[in-house]
Amino acid sequence: MNGFIYKIPTKVYFGDHLGMLASELKKFGKRVLLTYGGGSIKASGLYNRIVSALNAAGLELHELSGIAPNPRIESVRRGVTMCKKNDIDVILAVGGGSVLDASKFIAAGAKVDFDPWLFFSEWRPIKSALPLVTVLTLAATGSEMDAGGVISNLKTNEKIGRAEEILRPRVSFLDPALTFSVSPFQTAAGSADILSHVMETYFTTEPDLELLDGVMEAIMKTVIKFAPIAMKEPENYEARANLMWASSWAINGFVEGGKQHAWSVHPMEHELSAFYDITHGLGLAILTPRWLKYCMGDKSTLPKIVRFGVNVMGISPQLAPTLIAKKAVEQLSDFFFKTLKLAPTLSKIGITDENFAQMAQKATRGGVIEGFIPLDANDVESIYNMCL
Ligand code: NZQ
Ligand code: ZN
Repeated sequence: MNGFIYKIPTKVYFGDHLGMLASELKKFGKRVLLTYGGGSIKASGLYNRIVSALNAAGLELHELSGIAPNPRIESVRRGVTMCKKNDIDVILAVGGGSVLDASKFIAAGAKVDFDPWLFFSEWRPIKSALPLVTVLTLAATGSEMDAGGVISNLKTNEKIGRAEEILRPRVSFLDPALTFSVSPFQTAAGSADILSHVMETYFTTEPDLELLDGVMEAIMKTVIKFAPIAMKEPENYEARANLMWASSWAINGFVEGGKQHAWSVHPMEHELSAFYDITHGLGLAILTPRWLKYCMGDKSTLPKIVRFGVNVMGISPQLAPTLIAKKAVEQLSDFFFKTLKLAPTLSKIGITDENFAQMAQKATRGGVIEGFIPLDANDVESIYNMCL
């Protein structure tokens, strides 16, 4: 196991603690930029609760609404302008991963005098950022406790992620009841995203630490158990709570334990979203079983897929290892496409092979993806074709 540094400065309020929101914000100053998406927080009544609490506390409120799924650089630019014009002290992001991600780069953009897209196109340094406080409304990305974010530029068909410690939220409010209104589809897609975050780290040929493999298996089993319950019973607190905490722990750095290998499925998915603006978790669900099947061609991957089959999917260890691996991928597909009812192929969501070659080039723009097995552009194109 490699050495690593572990530090998560995000203070988490789990459960119904919104009464603490105003006092937490006040620690950073008086002028607050409230960021949110397309209106779900108004429909649920959360917007009114927050605005009343902030007004009562005498905070000065500015608002940036309309942050779209797969958040656009245009929203980031608008937010940066508002921060500079109103001398904002702290950003309050209320929503899913898209709102949180956009807010992270608004926070950084407020501290520089260049266009925030240069953080992605030229990798300009991110040295400081406004403090960010979040109220999470969808269990999926882990943005509430991680240092990263992903921003899209639809003009150039690009969707690029970046992580910097300074972007981690200072405080995150995680109330599972705020996710009761999430639709079955977004619940399914979010659950696929949580699973994928763990799988990107779990499926490796690097030496592991038993503790971390065990934690990852527990997170995966938790999602597999509770996602279908949350879809059927949206107000099941236990199911929503388990998904929410799994979302945060899948990607807050703990389970990585210093692993060096690159993520494989996310770069492939980000090209799908960049070209077709699809829901991130849906793209991951379509890609993941095909990627695992593709990786099975390499003998070095077999032990880990077998371990997954036995420990997570409950397959008998008495079976032949190759059969266990095959069944594991089949059962994972069934979970995504039958239990979670996500579309099983790219053609079902209207995507053809038209742009696969270009997308594969872009997914490997940083060179071969050194993941579970190394993937070059040809490998990526083959995996896209398996998803048709
Ligand atoms: O915009 P509103 O009206 O709020 O509606 C949203 C949106 O339409 C809705 N929603 C959110 N909370 C709700 C709700 N609807 C009803 N009730 C609620 N309580 O759900 C829709 C999707 O929201 P979005 O924020 O886009 O979803 P998600 O949290 O899955 O975020 C996806 C984005 O995060 C990026 C993805 O690439 C994608 O752009 N990711 C961020 C990561 C990170 N920060 O580390 C890692 C991930 O791998 C991922 O790439
Ligand atoms: Zn993801």
